[in-house]
Amino acid sequence: MTATSTAVTGIGSLVTNDPSFSGADNPLGLVRDAAVVVEGDRVVWTGPSSKAPPTDNRVDAGGRALLPGFVDSHSHLIFAGDRGAEFAARMSGRPYTAGGIRTTVAATRAASDAELGAALDRFLAEALRQGTTTVETKSGYGLTVHDEARALRIAAERTPETTYLGAHVVAPEYADDPAGYVDLVTGPMLDACAPHARWVDVFCEEGAFDGDQARAILTAGAARGLVPRVHANQLTAGPGVQLAVELGAASADHCTHLTGADIDALAGSATVATLLPGAEFSTRAVYPDARRLLDAGATVALSTDCNPGSSFTSSMAFCVAVAVRDMGMTPDEAVRAATYGGARALRRTDIGTVAPGARADLHLLDAPGHVHLAYRPGVPLTAAVWQAGELRWRAGHVTLEGAPGGT
Ligand code: NIG
Ligand code: FE
Repeated sequence: MTATSTAVTGIGSLVTNDPSFSGADNPLGLVRDAAVVVEGDRVVWTGPSSKAPPTDNRVDAGGRALLPGFVDSHSHLIFAGDRGAEFAARMSGRPYTAGGIRTTVAATRAASDAELGAALDRFLAEALRQGTTTVETKSGYGLTVHDEARALRIAAERTPETTYLGAHVVAPEYADDPAGYVDLVTGPMLDACAPHARWVDVFCEEGAFDGDQARAILTAGAARGLVPRVHANQLTAGPGVQLAVELGAASADHCTHLTGADIDALAGSATVATLLPGAEFSTRAVYPDARRLLDAGATVALSTDCNPGSSFTSSMAFCVAVAVRDMGMTPDEAVRAATYGGARALRRTDIGTVAPGARADLHLLDAPGHVHLAYRPGVPLTAAVWQAGELRWRAGHVTLEGAPGGT
């Protein structure tokens, strides 16, 4: 028996990120007055509404815009505790440092598995309501073998995109023995974490891990089948980006302080530059220069970095708005980076597009076009969200008779 097919028609403006529609003057592969046909968990057809094939069901989008679900390729959501006071102190002039991470480590260790799982569920639901259908998340607030492994186990029950970040900062117990902590991270901690993780990450930064330590950790992870991604050049122009490119990392994240050589290295590689404007916003720091990266030819992703210390937002729309307003990105570039770019950073081809064969992760906006994500900052525009063909969320004022995956 074939799955029921449903056409969503009357889409005012459809972002496909599909090369069969995109071109130099249409980077998002926009289709006006469009339709999308969904069968089961997949998109099977896209194009002009007037050419939509016959389907079992039909639903009218009422001229709204439809986009691929946001791909949030960088977050830190397995934690407990609150650092609102640290944020307030920062807004009165205190600088952000890597050391704040230890505050969250203490609270996370004290939390039960059930508490951490429930908190993660709340964050994932919060992200979904804002159009995010894929979330990568990291360990890094446990820093013991037991606490890192349980963080990743809890995360892996909810998303396939899990990242081992035992090397977030040196655990407090190893304050006088950083080399001993690197041995732990590359030895017993890696053994316990690798079964629950897809990626390995290091905070390569002053106050965290230097280039040699980062190389040892990423190489050990890679030997266990984990693909590297790197917290690189966030606070200073360190060796992180060059290391990420050299090791074939999927992504170099933050990229706030880059040299010309760093930009050239990213542009000449398959390593995605993942920009996290929430971090600069919440630490009152200078934004990364997205324009230089894009003009050089680098692939750019936008992500929230949602975490309790440096960027406590789950809103990809907010990141798009800031990237457009303050980082030199056009609305088209920012929306592409938040969808297709995130998928590239996770080396996924089934998400980040609305194209035949893609997973039916769809984000309906209560707006005529994607530009409104930046044009109407702070306004909750998400009208409905489908994940793998299932209607997972719908705004109270939106009716969708006959919608794929329910009403
Ligand atoms: O990506 N840079 C390292 N980790 C986080 C901050 C974590 C924290 O302050 O708790 C980040 O910004
Ligand atoms: Fe981060």
